[in-house]
Parts: sequence; C-alpha cells; structure tokens
Amino acid sequence: MISQFDQSGRLRHLITLKGLERTQITDLLDRAETLLRPAGDLPSRNEALAGRTVANLFFEPSTRTRASFELAARRLGADVLSLDVSTSSRAKGESLLDTIYTLQAMQCDIFVVRDAQAGIPEFIVEHVAPHVRILNAGESHLNHPTQGLLDMLTIRRHKGGFDQLVVTIIGDIHHSRVARSASHALSALGVGELRLVAPEHLRPDARDFPDAAIVDDVDRAIDGADVVMALRIQKERMSETAVPDPAEYFRRFGLDPRRLSLAKPDAIVMHPGPMNRNVEIAPEIADGAQSVIEEQVTNGVAVRMAVMEAVMAV
Ligand code: CP
Repeated sequence: MISQFDQSGRLRHLITLKGLERTQITDLLDRAETLLRPAGDLPSRNEALAGRTVANLFFEPSTRTRASFELAARRLGADVLSLDVSTSSRAKGESLLDTIYTLQAMQCDIFVVRDAQAGIPEFIVEHVAPHVRILNAGESHLNHPTQGLLDMLTIRRHKGGFDQLVVTIIGDIHHSRVARSASHALSALGVGELRLVAPEHLRPDARDFPDAAIVDDVDRAIDGADVVMALRIQKERMSETAVPDPAEYFRRFGLDPRRLSLAKPDAIVMHPGPMNRNVEIAPEIADGAQSVIEEQVTNGVAVRMAVMEAVMAV
C-alpha cells in the first residue's frame, strides 16, 4: 500500500482515515472549527493555496462533495478546475492516467478524485509527480475520508467528545464508504459504542468493522443512542433484484418519529446525503429539531479547507 504520509508521518495525500492517529484527526477538526463562521456572516477566506490549482475529477455523480471541494479551494485562494467528465476526452477513450498527466502538465497541484472503482486514488498517488497531492472524494464502497471528518466535526460540536457516545448507523452498510470512514474515525477517537443495523442482505462483513456491534433489530440498535445516522441505499452498487422495495424498506428500517423516540431525547440525526425521503428517513425527521443534516454540509467546506491546507503545508 502506498503511504498517504511523508517520512515524518504528516499527511501528504488523504486516501483513507484508517491508520490516522487520534491527534491527526483532532488537529484537522480543530483547524476546521476555526474556519467556521455563523450563518449569515461572510465565509472564512485565506490565501493558503494562492497560486495553486485544484482539479476536481468526479467519475461518479456528486452534489455536495464536489461543490464543497470547489468552494473550499476557492476560499483558500486556489484556481479551480472541475472537469466535466462526460464531455472530456475520457469519452474518446483517453485513459485515466493520461487525463491526470494532461492536467498535471497544466500545473494542477491537487487532484480531488471520486471513482466507483476501488484502489483508484492510491493508483493515482503512485503515478503523479512528487509535488502533487491526491484527495479521495469517494472510492467505491471503501473510503470517503472527508465525509468521515465532517461527520466527526458535526458530532463533536454537538456532543463535545466521543468516549461516552453511542452512535447508531442504519441502512445499506455493506456498500457504504460513509459508514466505513465514520467507523475508522470513531475507532481512532475512542467512541463508546458503534452499532450498525441493516437489512440482512446489506449487512457488512464484520471484519470490515472490527470495533462495531452488528445489531439485528432496528429498535434495539437505536435504543439509548446519542447519534443516529441514516444511510441511502446504494442502488448503483447492487443488482436490480437486490434493491429493496422503498415502502417495505421504510416500514422496516426507515428513521421515523417512533423509532427516533427510542434514542436519547437530545440525540442528533445525521444523513450524508443525498437523501431519499420516505425511504431511509421520514421528512419530519430530516427537517426536524434533532436533524443536523444541513450542518454536516456546512462543516464539509471547513473540513475540506483544513485538509487542503494540511496536505499543501508538507
Ligand atoms: N455525501 C456525499 O458524498 O454527497 P454527494 O454524493 O452529493 O457528494
């Protein structure tokens, strides 16, 4: 495995949260926290990336991650290129590496990459020039490290710490890079308890979540939780016949008012987005007083600024 760290253990790329020390995560969260501004204020800006160029390469759809990386880079003073992959020369058969080399020749310094295939961010790290940085913006079902960081920042801002917390994640855990990155970060931060609950055919291999309890029953999984995170069914990663019926799924696994009432009264509700209302979450919960879903989005920009500052500082 190619290292995402330099010889002193500092982050040069961000491919996965697995293997990050607690202090490395908290340093990023602390920096992101300083970049947040109250709603209605102007966003935080600095010139940490002045003269640099950030290329967004999203080979899978995205709204919030792509927009968030783009805004984060601009707020750090970088030039930003968001390649429209569908009209790029990849559609004419150009390889991924030739696309990267072409943009590297135009002096792109940071590549933000999302791809459906496992291993792509690491593969790019192996082939780019030493000064170039790679940030994983979603890799198959395996890693979504900046989502994991923004989720940790959101939890920390509401709950203060992690060691006493019960965190419950409900949904398509098997295909979820969000759940994997959250579990990597929660393990490093010493979470009290991580519970995972999924339909039988969407349960993960326990070896992928060594510090979590895989719970059979949704009500039991939510009982007494401090944080309840609902996940989207990743239809794009399963055969048509494996996709659950939406109404049946909502009845059995949807986060609705009755289920949420089993969590602690001050529990927060999270969802990485995009949401399918009335499938994994009831609209009144998504928009309700316990929901921090929009805060997750806000925190994402600050986290991505903190990550880009950190990798360009080494
Ligand atoms: N959470 C997340 O990755 O959302 P997008 O697919 O819209 O980027």
